[in-house]
Amino acid sequence: MPANIPVEAVKREEWSKIGFILASIGSAVGLGNIWRFPYMAGSNGGGAFLIPYILGVILFGMPLMIMELDAGRKFKGSVVTTLKQINRKMRFVGIISVVIALGVLSYYLVVTGWSLAYFVFSITGFLEFKSFVSGFMPLGFFIISLAITGVMVSLGIRKGIERMSTILIPVFVALLAVLAVYSLTLPGAGEGMGFYLAPDFGYLSNINTWIMGFSQAFFSLSVGYGILLTYGSYLRRGNGITKPAITVASADTIISILGGVVIFPIVFSFGLNPAAGPELSFVSMPAAFGSMPFGNIIGMAFFFLLFIAALTSAVSILEVGAATLVDELKWNRRKSVALLSMVVLGLGMPSAFSYVGEGIALMGMPFLEFMDAFLGSMLLLSSAVLCIAIMWFYKPEVFSIPIGRIAKLKIPQTVRFMLKYLIPFILVAMLVFELVV
Ligand code: PHE
Repeated sequence: MPANIPVEAVKREEWSKIGFILASIGSAVGLGNIWRFPYMAGSNGGGAFLIPYILGVILFGMPLMIMELDAGRKFKGSVVTTLKQINRKMRFVGIISVVIALGVLSYYLVVTGWSLAYFVFSITGFLEFKSFVSGFMPLGFFIISLAITGVMVSLGIRKGIERMSTILIPVFVALLAVLAVYSLTLPGAGEGMGFYLAPDFGYLSNINTWIMGFSQAFFSLSVGYGILLTYGSYLRRGNGITKPAITVASADTIISILGGVVIFPIVFSFGLNPAAGPELSFVSMPAAFGSMPFGNIIGMAFFFLLFIAALTSAVSILEVGAATLVDELKWNRRKSVALLSMVVLGLGMPSAFSYVGEGIALMGMPFLEFMDAFLGSMLLLSSAVLCIAIMWFYKPEVFSIPIGRIAKLKIPQTVRFMLKYLIPFILVAMLVFELVV
């Protein structure tokens, strides 16, 4: 074999069945489940919030997942490679997805670094959040998190991403279960669960609740970035898509709900403010860990959980870029990851320094929060375009196969119709609403 043919050009790596599911769960389960979902539910009608959220998962999230996986499995390439094959003019859609993914990764890894730092602090003693984020430490932990992510991705699909997920996801689930049981034994558990899950249906008449529920569903399932498309490209032709998608979406939803079961009893037992919002994990929780029995250990478990969740998601975002360089430029993985890490490091610096001194701000928001808001909106647009590019120029195979006994219900056809017209429309409508209101 001539020495200059990159290994990837010879044979594309393939997942094992279970490895693919665990890696996809790893991508879906992230900060969104443990840190974001509980406070969103807590401040948007408690149990009633589950209605828009679960509808968002079933009606929009799962169809998009299945669509991305199908395109990946069919074309066996990165987002850019796949879209180029679907239609040469659609190449730019792939490039936009990669750019958005790298932008998201840059600040997501900063928060991943916070989780790692707080894991360390739960051993050495907590630093107050304000003084932590106003120093240089967040940069250090961001760089460590970036390095770990980079190493995992450069090891490849089987030896890197799949092996990491096969070890970490079971650890994650075990820790989550232990923490949930512990929380439920605290004195404030009843009150906490009441606040968290007692439905206040009044919220459902507010369109904002619906938009929050839908966007949480999109964010949590990691759809629209080309992640699942990329992961799908390492599937074998004969591998199914629909069942794994249902498994991943259900696991993700259950884990989000359990995230709240861990958090709210602690909040109520230690007199914390349940409406603290984004500060809940890093400001309120450490206070509780300081005063609870076995607080050190519980704190360690909690922040390690957060870190694992974030790391396995970060890896999936970096893979979108890495696959693109490997497939398009025929670079090897290591070189691709090295270059991308430099880019992410540069992009992430202002996020890491968002709260230092005067802070780095854009449009009146700390840089990190600006990135989150801005890229969140861009994602709605790019998901809509991705959806149109795939559905209008390529007919995903899954939607032409009738599903067993329920074939009469014409589910695949209905889903195809929704993906072609309704879902892009809803995505754009959400964007317009966000911009106007
Ligand atoms: N789904 C992840 C979460 O819930 C977040 C994520 C966003 C992962 C974008 C990958 C890409 O936190």
